[in-house]
Amino acid sequence: MWSRRSWIAGAAAMPAAAQPGGAKNIVISSANGIACCNIAMAHMRANKDTLDAVIAGVNVNENDPNDDSVGYGGLPNEEGVVELDASVMHGPSRRAGSVASIRNIKNPSKVAKLVMTETDHIMLVGEGALRFAKSMGFAEENLLTEKSRLAWLAWKKSHLPNWTDGVDAPMALRRLFPEASDELLAYAWDRAKNPPTGTINCLALNAKGEMSGCTTTSGLAWKIPGRVGDSPIIGAGLYVDQDVGAAGSTGRGEENIRVAGAHSIVENMRHGMSPKDAVLDVLKRISRNFNDDKARLTKFDINFYALRKDGAYAGGSLWNGQLRRTGFVSRQFAVNDGSGNSRLENCVYLYERK
Ligand code: GLY
Repeated sequence: MWSRRSWIAGAAAMPAAAQPGGAKNIVISSANGIACCNIAMAHMRANKDTLDAVIAGVNVNENDPNDDSVGYGGLPNEEGVVELDASVMHGPSRRAGSVASIRNIKNPSKVAKLVMTETDHIMLVGEGALRFAKSMGFAEENLLTEKSRLAWLAWKKSHLPNWTDGVDAPMALRRLFPEASDELLAYAWDRAKNPPTGTINCLALNAKGEMSGCTTTSGLAWKIPGRVGDSPIIGAGLYVDQDVGAAGSTGRGEENIRVAGAHSIVENMRHGMSPKDAVLDVLKRISRNFNDDKARLTKFDINFYALRKDGAYAGGSLWNGQLRRTGFVSRQFAVNDGSGNSRLENCVYLYERK
């Protein structure tokens, strides 16, 4: 009898219908995925499965202490504990796996894949997800870096009455972290004031027409412990239909869950929309949930990525960009079409921030 693993491997080996007009490998991701797309493309060139390719790609961000929205170094919950969410979908076998609110495990994307391949469940959460990961050989480690701890303390000192002393919070931070550079304190202050929902989503299509996707995140900074965003929710943070295409999301997960964004985009493409129109349609649904009130919509960002079975793709965002400490940053997404290094392309968008 076939084991689940061999069934998936067998399904992956079945040739899917090729892309019409010049099949090639394509990987797209959120803008923090330049290196991720390079790695995923290298794996696809080496004939690795598309799911293994995207997981290898996002592992770069999960392992990077400087990506504070994913994995190690991710910004913690309101109690200072890093909780991670991730999901995977494998087009050829039409299967999925995910984990939510998992602590102390650096690569939740790998755990999500094992939920898919080694169990007949799709989603594990919290303590159960951690115990499953440990049973699969993952080691627990502290995911809170000093940089993220500083940002968390900046948030506490700026938002919680018990943690302020009537003096302005940046000065209090300087007392706590006398060695920290001005740049680091400015970073911490910015994160405290503008809690990010970064995340990485990566979608891949190979020359055989096989598709997979992965979304992984530390979620909304300073969240209530146990809060789960869209990233591990199949159909919201990620959806892959081998017959149609794939979609994923980054940004404010609560708004995505309310429109089942990734699934809605794939369904739009199934009914004939281009990736760009499919993404814009879902962004309009999010806007509609706020009666198109830009004063409320401006309080968050949300982005979608879509890759169709024929290789057409798009990235789209609610707003054209955002004002950061470093100036106005346009919304972009990363692409690697196999012709060289990954590049950033501009997202289509619904509204302009002046
Ligand atoms: N999109 C990531 C989150 O909201 O958790």
